[in-house]
Amino acid sequence: MRHLMSPLDFTTEELDRLFDLANDIERTPGKYAHSCDGRILATCFYEPSTRTRLSFESAMTRLGGQVIGFSDAASSSASKGESVSDTIRIISCYADICAMRHPKEGAPMVAAEKSEIPVINAGDGGHQHPTQTLTDLLTIRSLKGRLDHFTIGLCGDLKFGRTVHSLINALVRYEGIRFVFISPEELRVPDYITDMLKEKQIPYEEVIRLENVMPDLDFLYMTRVQKERFFNEEDYIRLKDFYILDTAKMALARKDMLVLHPLPRVNEISVEVDDDPRAAYFRQARYGVYVRMALILTLLNII
Ligand code: CP
Repeated sequence: MRHLMSPLDFTTEELDRLFDLANDIERTPGKYAHSCDGRILATCFYEPSTRTRLSFESAMTRLGGQVIGFSDAASSSASKGESVSDTIRIISCYADICAMRHPKEGAPMVAAEKSEIPVINAGDGGHQHPTQTLTDLLTIRSLKGRLDHFTIGLCGDLKFGRTVHSLINALVRYEGIRFVFISPEELRVPDYITDMLKEKQIPYEEVIRLENVMPDLDFLYMTRVQKERFFNEEDYIRLKDFYILDTAKMALARKDMLVLHPLPRVNEISVEVDDDPRAAYFRQARYGVYVRMALILTLLNII
């Protein structure tokens, strides 16, 4: 039995097979419409979500399976003090696979240790968001045909952004990747990540002004400043609108540069950018369904 806690749980060869499967599902969805007949996915979300939870539910439903779960810790017995370990033992009696989001780093790992069914980390605190990373990688591969030799700008909350941490960890395994980290001083990418990049001799630079680096980028990965990770409101208010991607900034970028965002967005991408053909974030959300379908099939050993 396999779980998914980090994108690194899959080798790059396994990821290629997963993405090939996701692309096949996109081309020929009918072939997979009954692949999970009789199977149940549990979505245990202790933190709010639109994309991750609903794309998992859409994925399982499109595979012919069914879904149970909770979308809020308050509506589960966690509110009565039940531990994650006990909860997953119970979920193991009811479902065949579980996607879990939790505000505490490592909670899905604790669940996996006690689980009798595959557990997927659907985001744990500021730590990892592996299925978002699978979505990001599938989007890049599908739209550009490869995962190597890119300059990727990551902009916004690079300190608390689990999607950013997961994506960097995954991309360092590909040749010719260069990172540009664009953030205010207070939201710089953590030292453990820059230490890892130095050790692996992967080029990166850290800048504050987005305008200065726009022409260099193959991808711009925008992120939201996450209110829920701040300890005080004042800091959040000061930093929340630090970056706003608008048409004037897009004019500085290459014609084939693509903008990604894990979403939700708040103000960091102006809605006027949505009509730019380089805005790929809504297509990215669609790829999230295909990759989660492929992941469910892979972890249930159906493919
Ligand atoms: N990208 C993402 O994780 O979105 P949700 O928080 O809506 O699931």
